[in-house]
Amino acid sequence: MGIKVNEKESFFSITTQNTEYQFKADKFGVLKHLWYGEKTECDMEYLLDYPDVGFSGQIYDAADDRTNSIDTMPLEYPCGGIGDFRIPAVRVVHADGSTALDLRYKGYCIKNGKYSIPGLPAVYAEEKKAQTLEITLSDTASDTEVILRYGVLEELDIITRSTEICNKGSSPIFLKEAASLSLDIPFGDWEWIHFQGRHTKERVPERTPLIHGIQESSSSRGMSSHHQNPSFVICSPDCSEQAGKCYGGFFVYSGSFQTRIELDQLNQTRAVMGINPNLFGWKLKGGESFHTPEAVMTYSNEGFSKLSHNFHKVIRENICRGKYKLAERPVLLNNWEATYFDFDADKILKIAENAAALGVDMLVLDDGWFGKRDSDTSGLGDWFVNEKKLSGGLGSLVEKIKALGMKFGLWFEPEMVSEDSELYRTHPDWVIKIPSRKPNRARCQLVLDMSRKDVLENLYDSISAILKSADISYIKWDANRNICDWYSGELSAENQCELPHRYVLGLYELLERLNMDFPDVMIEGCSGGGGRFDAGMLYYCPQIWCSDDTDAFERTEIQYGTSFIYPISAVGSHVSVVPNHQTGRITPFETRAVTAMAGSFGYELDLGKLSEDEKQAVFRQIERFKKYGPLIHNGKYYRLSDPTTENYALWEYVSEDKSEALIHGMVFRTVPNMKRIAIRAAGLSPEGEYMIEGSGEIYSGAALMNGGILLQRTWGDHCPVEIHLIKQGV
Ligand code: GLA
Repeated sequence: MGIKVNEKESFFSITTQNTEYQFKADKFGVLKHLWYGEKTECDMEYLLDYPDVGFSGQIYDAADDRTNSIDTMPLEYPCGGIGDFRIPAVRVVHADGSTALDLRYKGYCIKNGKYSIPGLPAVYAEEKKAQTLEITLSDTASDTEVILRYGVLEELDIITRSTEICNKGSSPIFLKEAASLSLDIPFGDWEWIHFQGRHTKERVPERTPLIHGIQESSSSRGMSSHHQNPSFVICSPDCSEQAGKCYGGFFVYSGSFQTRIELDQLNQTRAVMGINPNLFGWKLKGGESFHTPEAVMTYSNEGFSKLSHNFHKVIRENICRGKYKLAERPVLLNNWEATYFDFDADKILKIAENAAALGVDMLVLDDGWFGKRDSDTSGLGDWFVNEKKLSGGLGSLVEKIKALGMKFGLWFEPEMVSEDSELYRTHPDWVIKIPSRKPNRARCQLVLDMSRKDVLENLYDSISAILKSADISYIKWDANRNICDWYSGELSAENQCELPHRYVLGLYELLERLNMDFPDVMIEGCSGGGGRFDAGMLYYCPQIWCSDDTDAFERTEIQYGTSFIYPISAVGSHVSVVPNHQTGRITPFETRAVTAMAGSFGYELDLGKLSEDEKQAVFRQIERFKKYGPLIHNGKYYRLSDPTTENYALWEYVSEDKSEALIHGMVFRTVPNMKRIAIRAAGLSPEGEYMIEGSGEIYSGAALMNGGILLQRTWGDHCPVEIHLIKQGV
């Protein structure tokens, strides 16, 4: 089984199929981290050998052993204020104002199945496929207890982390910081990859050597953000897609987060990830406890591909939920870039007719169908039909669309409100805003206080009324600004610091209720494209609109970065018109299609405006997506190039049984008088023989993976690539 304990030694080992994670309580009860990496089947404590380091002190119990310093030892859940001067995982203020916490080992228990976390999304698993290890620590001087929870998904090489901080005393304590994951890596040289960007350019990987001191990737925007993603990779300098050591972590949380990596004076690495402590505080009265959100870790010594495969599988199968999680997603047409706010029922119906004729499964009506909403200056919050645009209401439009054989989806932005709206005029106190100050406006809108029960109730009532008024199969759940001016009329002065986290809990509560009450409605997440692309949202929405940048060339970088952590089925991706509305770039139609196929696939344009040839192409693209969809979503995904540095973006899907593979992508620029590009495939069976569909050429898997496949000569820019490999004799 995955969890082994040596009680006499207070030694714990968590093993998964290919990894091992170890820690141990020493003779003073200090919980030391020993190892995360390959399976060793050996207590790795023998490697912990420390010198007497000046200015690194000892806990009192260590007497004159000046080599036993908590400032240099690898620790499992480091506390603030007692002499480990590196990043702490937990900081509290006690009732007397003191801020130290000295957690020592108290006991453990092992449970079958995977723990869940009240009110928060978390990895789930069948009872026989997971185990939970709970370690209880208690403070030497106060009644504070901390339970470290480890969820072990052995087959997936996944270990999850969450912490519960309990005030067992009678006086309140204030939690200042409570990380979900702390990982000390005492050995080796490492580099750090994080995923940075901005609106329309999300999750571009940035890989840097570690520098001494602290490096950070974080969001203080109330949402996980376009700018940094709540995930990280720490890798050996030689780590590549297929070889090298790497650790990965992602956070199952959609609010402000912080990931800090510290390289200490002894060249040891510590990674700490959790709710952003700069926007957090939590009062724990006697008897209360606080649960941190979950963090998920994996380790691979076979490069980034394996790390991504582990994460893709756990997100797709153990975080996403509901009837759509493994189902093929409908090919949808979204009207946003086709009409923006300028539409009426007839126009939408015409767009739907053209889409239905070409095989599109669902029409999604985006922003502008409700309240007084002809631009982004008004209407948010008024979730009732704008009869001027949709005379006859939603019901009649939806029936007409259904009669075309299509499903219908609808855009909402529930967390936001326009000042020019009935909702704001009736409930001005429902927004997040400091009473004495003018609030920051972004996209002309304010944010509702999702910590309030009355706000959640109102949103549930208005959204469910719309869902019941017509046959709606899908919601696009948008959130088009970040949050500041934090203040809630419902919270006392000392509890205002709880608002950012309470906001996220409120959002999750509403999403959970809608998921439970409308199990047939699929929700697609969105926040100005991919501004809240995280595993927390994926628990409620199996796909998220990846970016407002629909330019195929730009998307190759955005989707490349996204794919390190998140599965292809989670990526909302559409074909749009050229010149592209974000960049003015013209890319071939076919290139836009293969890029959009690396996701949920759909169209974001009026198909009626295409030429006859293009319409035929749409028909064939949808046919191809239906054919390849199961391979794309269920197969293993391999990045075959780095589009941020190479002249092409190429990626590959390989079926679990290696019987087929599909290479997609584009060559950015044609280079004249040059040899053809030989691209190395990945993940095939080396001894298998593979036929290239179309040309009929047959090569061994070993040849295709080590030598490569010659791409067609290209002509022009952004030329599409599609190569389907079929294993012979299966
Ligand atoms: C956001 C979304 C877009 C579209 C608009 C509508 O920017 O990302 O896809 O829905 O809002 O206002």
